[in-house]
Amino acid sequence: MQRAENRKQIHAVTEPWRREGLKIALVPTMGNLHRGHLSLVEAARREADRVVTSIYVNPAQFGEGEDYASYPRTLEADSLALEQAGCDLLFVPGHNTMYPSGLDHAVRLLASPDLAGVLEGESRPGHFDGVVTVVARLFNLVVPDVAVFGEKDYQQLLVIQRMADDLGYGIRIVPVPTVRETSGLAMSSRNNYLDKAERESAGRLNAILLHAAGQVRSGCENCIQVEQAATARLKELGFQVDYVAVRRAEDLLMPGSGDPDLRVLAAVWSGPTRLIDNVRVIRVGISGH
Ligand code: PAJ
Repeated sequence: MQRAENRKQIHAVTEPWRREGLKIALVPTMGNLHRGHLSLVEAARREADRVVTSIYVNPAQFGEGEDYASYPRTLEADSLALEQAGCDLLFVPGHNTMYPSGLDHAVRLLASPDLAGVLEGESRPGHFDGVVTVVARLFNLVVPDVAVFGEKDYQQLLVIQRMADDLGYGIRIVPVPTVRETSGLAMSSRNNYLDKAERESAGRLNAILLHAAGQVRSGCENCIQVEQAATARLKELGFQVDYVAVRRAEDLLMPGSGDPDLRVLAAVWSGPTRLIDNVRVIRVGISGH
């Protein structure tokens, strides 16, 4: 596996690939890699001839008081895991490469407000602007044919798909299902913050979302009651709830009775750790538009 830190180095590796007609997949990450990230690398290998994984803890997507400073940075272990997973190029840009004029002076993108203003966007204002800004910059530096993202961050996936469409990148965005612990807990770099007891109860989040999904699937008239019941159950278990929401999978709008393809999405706090998760619901007997 090769390594690059700036535009010149990355082009030195990718230009010969392109001349050979090889397709390039990009897997953007913030490092501290776990099996969820590695499943993205595996998907990338299926989708393209060469895989580039980027590791950059992006200051622009962290809010005031969030965990930018303490976010786990484990570059050498990550590099080893990527090598074993068959990644061809590790891109580890410094701040100078990502934001050459400095973050305060950088050109920034605004994520589309309809998708980015709800759910995570309400709890973390500006977060998705930071995400699309850094992902667009990574697209420009790496120039991939395909980019791979996890359904774990379902809203992020939609926001990035919209950004790629609106800016005309022509990059195919590939979604990958969430990888979980046996308890159901979605793998996340932030799970490292959980103590033993918190980690044990954290698996309940997924169980509660699956239960809510089951209620929606069997035809609840009023999804708000399902959201409220799941919220109450989570609170009983000691979580502080940011949101539980049943939404249309395609645009995160409130579901109408004729919408078959939905998601149940949630964000909760377990002590000092913020957990997010979502599950898919296909309503049977509803054929869509
Ligand atoms: P990060 O949290 O490191 O996640 C990188 C990618 O891995 C994202 O696409 C995320 O959805 C995916 N991922 C994380 N946990 C997963 C799991 N358990 N199963 C499957 N996929 C999982 O998301 C970011 O970084 C950043 O916002 C980024 C897109 C890199 C921009 O800075």
